[in-house]
This record gives sequence, structure tokens and C-alpha cells, in this order.
Amino acid sequence: MSMEALKERIVREGQGIGRGVLKVDSFLNHQIDVAFLDEIGRALAERFAGCSVTKILTVESSGIPVACAVSRAMGYPPVVFAKKAAPNTMVEGVYSTDVKSFTKETVSTIRVSRKFLQPEDRILIIDDFLAYGESALGLTRLVRSAGADVTGIGVVIEKRFQGGSAKLKQAGFQVESLAVIRSITDGNIEFQ
Ligand code: G4P
Repeated sequence: MSMEALKERIVREGQGIGRGVLKVDSFLNHQIDVAFLDEIGRALAERFAGCSVTKILTVESSGIPVACAVSRAMGYPPVVFAKKAAPNTMVEGVYSTDVKSFTKETVSTIRVSRKFLQPEDRILIIDDFLAYGESALGLTRLVRSAGADVTGIGVVIEKRFQGGSAKLKQAGFQVESLAVIRSITDGNIEFQ
């Protein structure tokens, strides 16, 4: 998939809300165009070719389909998704960390069972959106808690004006975004 195809789709179907939010419910966040999703998966997989990824880590819920598409393109490494709710089925040991959401003005705890992250794992972090980078940073903390390595962070849409990629690169991570948005003003979406 070319970056242009994704941009065109965002322009045609996306809806800028206020100054910070992009709604892409018709193909990514509510209804999913699975063929297009698989193209997205292949494009992200290409960015991390040669990284010897053993697992893909994301956070529920919208990250999951993207992570699965990347997995298919990478030869099916398992997808692990951090959970936001504390399910009573997670009785065994977990790694957990608090994640602040600037968009939602909330703090939530994300958790992953210890049995799904091993010290020898090479973890690719995948998400649909990169905003302030707090979710992705939280995921890197879970990986580090397990003593595993982060091979990189891949996202479909980065909102560069919210500073997430700068923060993550500063922390030493490879960050790859398929579409980079420079600004959203009064519904107008500008790309980098
Ligand atoms: P950050 O993790 O990068 O710091 O971002 P932030 O807290 O602001 O956003 C967290 C949630 O909002 C994530 O999903 C993220 O995917 C989503 N998000 C952020 N910006 C946008 C946007 O412009 N458009 C859309 N559609 N989503 C955005 P979530 O709400 O926690 O969970 P879920 O929707 O995946 O269940």
C-alpha cells in the first residue's frame, strides 16, 4: 500500500474533530475494511523487516485488528494485547502500568499476563493512532518489566502535533508511521 492510498482514504472518509481528533470510523475504528487493513499490515511489516520480531504487543481495542494484520504479514508471530479492564480471569501474575490519556483526561491501568512476555522476546509495538505517545510508552514499560526488547513502534496514523513520536524517539525507539498528520483545524486535515 502506498502512503498516498492511506492519505486519500483519510481525506475522503476521515472527519477532523476540533483541533485534535481524527475520526476514521468507516475503515479502521468502527467498520473495518479488512482488505485495506491487510495492506496496512503489509506496509507496517515492511518497515520492520529484518527485526526478528517474536511477538507483537498492542492495547485493546482498536490496536488489535492492526496488530493481527501485521502478524499475518510477518509470518504469524503471536499478538498480545494489554487489557484496560481488570478481568477476574487474570488471576496469575501480571505486569501493569498506569497510562495517562491527554485526549480523554483519564489515567488507566494497562496489564498483561507475565506468561505472555518473556525475557528473550523481541517485541514490536503496534497501534492504530499515535497521539501523545503515552499508551506506547506504557507498552514499552510492560516490555521492559519482562526484561524483553522493544524492536520498534509502528502506527497507522500519527498526529505529529501532539508530540508522541518525538517523545518516543527521544527515548531511543524506532517509530514508524504510515500517515503523519501535521494539523487538524476546524475539520481540515493537513499532512506532513
Ligand atoms: P496517546 O496514548 O498517544 O498518549 O494518546 P491518547 O491517550 O490521547 O489516546 C488514547 C486513545 O485514543 C487510544 O485509544 C487512541 O488510539 C485513541 N486516539 C487518540 N487520538 C485519536 C484520534 O485522533 N482519532 C481516533 N479515532 N482515536 C484516537 P483508546 O480510546 O484508549 O482505546 P480504543 O478506542 O482503542 O478502545
